[in-house]
Amino acid sequence: MIILSIESSCDETAAAVVEDGRRLLSNVVATQVEEHRIYGGVVPEIASRRHTEAISLVTKQALQQAGLGLDAVDAVAVTYAPGLIGALLVGVNFAKGLAFSAGKPLIPVHHLRGHIAANYLAHPELKPPFLCLVVSGGHSHLVYLDDYTGLRMIGQTRDDAAGECFDKAARSMGMPYPGGIALDRMAQQGNPHAFPLPRPAVDGNPYDFSFSGLKTAVINRLHQAEQKGESICVPDMCASLQHTVAEILTDHTMRAAAETGAGTVVLAGGVSANSGLRAAMTAACEKAGLRLYMPPLALCGDNAAMIGAQAYYEYLAGHTADLSLNAFASLPIEQ
Ligand code: KG4
Ligand code: ZN
Repeated sequence: MIILSIESSCDETAAAVVEDGRRLLSNVVATQVEEHRIYGGVVPEIASRRHTEAISLVTKQALQQAGLGLDAVDAVAVTYAPGLIGALLVGVNFAKGLAFSAGKPLIPVHHLRGHIAANYLAHPELKPPFLCLVVSGGHSHLVYLDDYTGLRMIGQTRDDAAGECFDKAARSMGMPYPGGIALDRMAQQGNPHAFPLPRPAVDGNPYDFSFSGLKTAVINRLHQAEQKGESICVPDMCASLQHTVAEILTDHTMRAAAETGAGTVVLAGGVSANSGLRAAMTAACEKAGLRLYMPPLALCGDNAAMIGAQAYYEYLAGHTADLSLNAFASLPIEQ
């Protein structure tokens, strides 16, 4: 089954063609990151406008690179939640028009389920059940997949996502948006034990996360130094924050793996590109005798290939939509 997929939930306009959820035929991403950088973050209104301008060409390119016409496509898939509502609506309306005019089924895909499915494109043997840590700019979830479309929430962040913590801390240290990548690079030259940082405790669910206290601790430490006229070693601060975040995420994942009896752990989302997290998770899984799968760096960030991969399994589960499909800024991953 050949699926043409579209993604426009944040600041990448993307289209891809994927066969049977596993084989990537093309993958086109037009990023707006340079334009948003001068504002220090994504400006939703600009994002929507740029999606509108790019979506038609990006989709054409995806079909061209796959060497296929729209007639050879069996279904059209689109990210319908969660994300910036105006940005999502551009993709949803475009996909609706395409599916309707070509007489193809329309498959709505949850963005975070897509991030998980990026792993199916790179690891042919990977199948549920598994435990997955989904860490992106807006979400930090620990989910258990009983099957491709049956997900259970094990833990989630109570406040900021891990990506947001990285981005805001990086911004306070003068790094350009999106700060996570710059912070990772800077951390390579720093001492991860230079600054002891808090590991916020969360009452109730022991698998939930809280990153806002950690973010504030870094920002306060920077302000203190500024007020006293001291200089802070930026690589050391980056390395300390990255080490702390990676340790929190890995600890929670390992405890959840033991509790759920998972034999396989999967990483997903933009933050899964983080070198400290990848190293910590690799070491912990090796020690615990768990199989670990991570997306290749090229598929960690937002793309439409991952949406096409998940769409195949959503279609097999009967999850298609008609022209009344709407976009949602937030939507639980279990739905
Ligand atoms: O999944 P994603 O591309 O978009 C969302 O769905 O949010 O994730 C973007 C997030 C941003 O916070 C970005 O700074 C972070 O992923 N990120 C990283 C790295 N690469 C991307 N954070 C830490 N280290 C990285 N190497
Ligand atoms: Zn994403």
